[in-house]
Amino acid sequence: MTEAEMYSVYKGLLVPSLLYTPESLKYFEEFVFRPDDIIIVTYPKSGTTWTQEIVPLIMSGGDPASVETLPNWERVPWLEEIQACTFNLQQRASPRMLTTHSPYNMMPPSFFEVIYVMRNPKDVFVSSFFYHRTASFLVNPGPQTDFLHKFLDGKVFFGSWFDHVKSWLKAEDKEHIMHISYEEMILDLKDSVGRIAQFLNKSLDPEVIEKIADRCLFKNMKNNNMSNYSAVPREFMDQTKSEFLRKGIAGDWENQLTVAEAEHFDFVYKDKMKDVKCKFVWDLK
Ligand code: A3P
Repeated sequence: MTEAEMYSVYKGLLVPSLLYTPESLKYFEEFVFRPDDIIIVTYPKSGTTWTQEIVPLIMSGGDPASVETLPNWERVPWLEEIQACTFNLQQRASPRMLTTHSPYNMMPPSFFEVIYVMRNPKDVFVSSFFYHRTASFLVNPGPQTDFLHKFLDGKVFFGSWFDHVKSWLKAEDKEHIMHISYEEMILDLKDSVGRIAQFLNKSLDPEVIEKIADRCLFKNMKNNNMSNYSAVPREFMDQTKSEFLRKGIAGDWENQLTVAEAEHFDFVYKDKMKDVKCKFVWDLK
């Protein structure tokens, strides 16, 4: 199938038609948030599934059942995806835990508590490249350099990484938006879990935080069949090509990008991010 057959354009963003239909996108647009909804927001491949493991464990005080009963996409559903409307979210007890890949400017009004997870875009690119080979609802990425140009031009699903991150950095209601990076979570998961718990006003004993962080280690999460996408049929996600929980490290781009690709990436990054004042963990390397 061609890209035009596989993707549709939603408010200027490419979305895979199989997962995002006009009805599901309407459901998202009209979604009415409650003040205590907890919303995980990411650009794809930035640590969404990881955060979908951390937040339920925090909210349940470390109860393993919170991540062993439902698959992640039902546990903390993506609001814009086709299945969301089947989960009866209106009936769910508060606080509901929800996910979206939406840029800030496309969010339905009235949302409140957001955890925005960011990741080094070079690693996002690498993760995405492998994911495009695995997921049948995404276009074949083709050669790495071609896909790199598409990624940097924002001609991939959910558009430009730069626009996405900048939209959430500029978000107005800063008090209720927590920004955290994948790299911070890799560097010190216990500290990151503690900070997320604090943001969510959950006071947890240090031993509970430690237990949650341990459960959310890559090697342990890989064994959770409710989080490793093993329940997804092979025709949608062929994990024999590349596992969903693939490497789980920071800096894999150094193994994957050629020198020329990395230099081009840096050149574009510098230009696109010139108006952003803050420094990210990956800038400090
Ligand atoms: P890699 O492909 O680099 O391994 P998302 O959930 O947003 O699609 O992001 C997927 C990326 O997050 C994958 O990156 C995956 O391995 C990584 N990931 C998921 N759980 C993780 C964990 N517990 N620790 C570290 N990385 C994790």
